[in-house]
Amino acid sequence: MASKNMFQTPSGVKDLLPFEYDYYRKIYEVSRLVADFYGFGEIQTPIFEPADLFIRGLGQATELVEKQMYVFRTKGGDLLALRPEATAGIARAYLQHGFQTLPQPVKLWTFGPFYRYERPQAGRYRQFWQVDFEILGDGSAVMDAQIIQLLFEIFEELKIKDISVEINSIGDSQCRPYYKKILTSYLRQNFSALCQDCRRRFKENPLRVLDCKEEKCQRVVNLAPQLVDHLCEFCKTHFKEVLEFLEGLQIPYKLNPYLVRGLDYYTKTVFEIFAKNSKLSKNALAGGGRYDSLLKILGKKDVPAVGAAFGVERVIELFEENKISIFKTKKKPEVFLAQLGKAAKIKSLILLKDFRKAGILVAENLGKDSLRTQLKNADRLGCRYVLILGQQEVLEQKILLRDLRSGKQEELKLEKVVTEIKKRLKNG
Ligand code: HAM
Repeated sequence: MASKNMFQTPSGVKDLLPFEYDYYRKIYEVSRLVADFYGFGEIQTPIFEPADLFIRGLGQATELVEKQMYVFRTKGGDLLALRPEATAGIARAYLQHGFQTLPQPVKLWTFGPFYRYERPQAGRYRQFWQVDFEILGDGSAVMDAQIIQLLFEIFEELKIKDISVEINSIGDSQCRPYYKKILTSYLRQNFSALCQDCRRRFKENPLRVLDCKEEKCQRVVNLAPQLVDHLCEFCKTHFKEVLEFLEGLQIPYKLNPYLVRGLDYYTKTVFEIFAKNSKLSKNALAGGGRYDSLLKILGKKDVPAVGAAFGVERVIELFEENKISIFKTKKKPEVFLAQLGKAAKIKSLILLKDFRKAGILVAENLGKDSLRTQLKNADRLGCRYVLILGQQEVLEQKILLRDLRSGKQEELKLEKVVTEIKKRLKNG
């Protein structure tokens, strides 16, 4: 137990300790291989950006911008924000570096921490990690399907089963205003049945009422007119195509006519991926959609785009809940290098480098001077061979090799030790 006066991590954030960080590395590795195959370039945008990028990009009235963003003023007077998500930063980078002059689409992906001031609970942190994919410069429906396929492939590689997509189309600037009018009039008639938050949402953006999890609002929402019934021909065709691609890929999906997502940049397809039969089944593993108007807002350039991100902590919590083991058993060192005296320590440091270069795992305990302790250590680690280097051996450019299995000991030339060990390990 830490004492009262010791510093602790702030609420909602945690240290990633070595055993846990192994998960992050594995998730990164699997994502990287899939991203490489599908032609995604890896990008890292800064952890903080001008606050205005998110305010304009995600929408002033969104919950994320209004309540969850970490905003601070620098000593120089700039208003900055810790990035709450990746899409706006990547869109900014695309415009800033003139990526629209490259062959389109431009596919980018990133892995890193994001920040939201949310109420901490299982699956919800104030610093959390995302793997995020974006395809910029292509409006075709097949891109929407490819993003979903990609996430499914990663989840499959990570042995996550029983997942499904909830999907909807929220139209574009042609058809959404018309739907908003119909919805507004319906909600006005049911205003008294809405929760306090939704009464406010009704004024700011009535679409957001559709997202409310309150039971009383759900009752109103369940009878509300649906956006899919009011899509323009263009959005309708696009959505139909996305669904056809998903069927072709045999990706299980559920139409959710009330899925709107919390960010203003979305147009047409929106989706969330959930793990079924899990304690976390209410929290989405991943979310994304098309955002054909974001780059216009940020840079006056018409660039259709689609993307998605998944939450690394939520995936790890699923591993733990379902006892999913994603690691091969870690290789154990079969060789222990024991040393006696300063000259032997120096030679050992050099030898360790040679062994590492040769790809041979060697354990050591350089801080210890007693041979007995070092041999005990080798035994505890289950090493088969112990190399012993003392002052005399260094002078004679030799090293002792003890086979703990047979008990035999012999002398080797120092310059040959790496090749000799390699040979023995190969022959078992
Ligand atoms: P999002 O739905 O806000 O979308 O976040 C994506 C995923 O990040 C969520 O499904 C969840 O797994 C994880 N996540 C979000 N907030 C937290 C939190 N507080 N703690 C733990 N995990 C969390 C976006 O961020 C969009 N930028 C996705 C996108 C990319 N859309 C288009 N391109």
